[in-house]
Amino acid sequence: MKKCCIVGLGYIGLPTAIILSQSEYLVSGVDVDENIVQKINKGEPHIQEPDLKESLEIAIKSGKLKASLTPSISDAFIIAVPTPFKKNKKSIPEANLDYLFNSIRSIAKVLKKNDLVIIESTSPVGTTKLSSKLIHKLTGFNEKQIKLAYCPERVLPGNIMHEIVNNDRIIGGITSEASHEAKKLYQSFCKGNIHLTNSKTAELTKLAENSFRDVNIAFANELSMVCDKYGINARELIKLTNYHPRVNILNPGSGVGGHCIAIDPWFIASQCPNITPLIQTSRRVNLSKTKWVYEKIISAVQEYSNKKNCSPQIGIFGITFKSDSDDIRESPALEIVKKLISKGLKIKVNEPNLSSHNKFNLFKEEDVLDSDILVFLVPHSRFKKIKPKNKLILDFCGAVEIHAK
Ligand SMILES: NC(=O)c1ccc[n+]([C@@H]2O[C@H](COP(=O)([O-])OP(=O)(O)OC[C@H]3O[C@@H](n4cnc5c(N)ncnc54)[C@H](O)[C@@H]3O)[C@@H](O)[C@H]2O)c1
Repeated sequence: MKKCCIVGLGYIGLPTAIILSQSEYLVSGVDVDENIVQKINKGEPHIQEPDLKESLEIAIKSGKLKASLTPSISDAFIIAVPTPFKKNKKSIPEANLDYLFNSIRSIAKVLKKNDLVIIESTSPVGTTKLSSKLIHKLTGFNEKQIKLAYCPERVLPGNIMHEIVNNDRIIGGITSEASHEAKKLYQSFCKGNIHLTNSKTAELTKLAENSFRDVNIAFANELSMVCDKYGINARELIKLTNYHPRVNILNPGSGVGGHCIAIDPWFIASQCPNITPLIQTSRRVNLSKTKWVYEKIISAVQEYSNKKNCSPQIGIFGITFKSDSDDIRESPALEIVKKLISKGLKIKVNEPNLSSHNKFNLFKEEDVLDSDILVFLVPHSRFKKIKPKNKLILDFCGAVEIHAK
């Protein structure tokens, strides 16, 4: 039986490891976090994702998936470690490839001639080439001896177990032999079409996909602020505008968060700063929307305080970066809540997808509904059932109803 080692057992690596263990591969999952490794080996996922728990239990019981702290000898390696940006306060942030290069250093100790290595982590253009050079430096194997390919992941959190199998895949090998070897691996579980290209093109497809989303969300967010200026309901306007057969404006919200769309456009912009004004502006528009939402809440609080001579209790609904997810990475809603708390305001937060938060308490829905001002920051499906009465509602994400303020 062929062996595959998945390096990084997070939102991408763990589902990939589970799905691959359902095919002909014997899978070893590697993570540097001991707690994650222990939990996975007990069949307990450390992330929330539909159908993940059941499939993990089966994979562990079958003996086809085992997690550990270090890579072991395998035929194929898939790298799915984080690629955040550097927090060095540059106006255009650059990618932090430390996790990726550290994971290559760890697999280099067990790599043998003809092994397949696939990078799934979202990466700037040229990263696969750099990784090939690093592998050569560490092992002596050249690009013909280790088959290295880039294959970006494009799953939607909340639907990962389905999309990981059914989405089309783009594979860009360092050599065409590497592309074909990687294709064989994905064919063992992927029902979507698999498209082969070179590594640079594959790297840029992923960045282009997320930049496309960011640019289009920026338009919706900017438009929502224009609507507010005119006293027009943005959601109603967008719904009506979208009756045009060739217009499809996206939904505005509290900003853009997560590990992908809020980060990846910078990977293009930092390498091409002089020719990416649209990508950079869109990023800044989406960041400014979060600030705008915060300021709107502050003015509502001030208005309430002036009228009633006391400060209001603010009920916040949603802190994750997207609907029906437990993922809080780069979450605009969370950033807003932290700022409101640091201003000393009276806040109660409801987040149906999390049991706790390490910086503040989470409250039950009914306790938060008692607040004077209700603020909806994330459109979780659960909130659609809420019918608040006689409350000041600030709905920044279309959580409750189309005609909400
Ligand atoms: N989450 C998504 O929806 C999504 C979608 C598409 C692409 N991606 C990309 O996939 C990559 C992984 O994202 P994720 O969401 O799974 O991240 P994650 O943070 O959920 O998981 C990454 C895991 O890698 C581990 N790790 C870090 N360094 C390691 C090392 N040297 N060796 C072994 N393990 C290590 C971490 O402990 C963590 O558990 C990123 O590049 C991301 O941009 C993510």
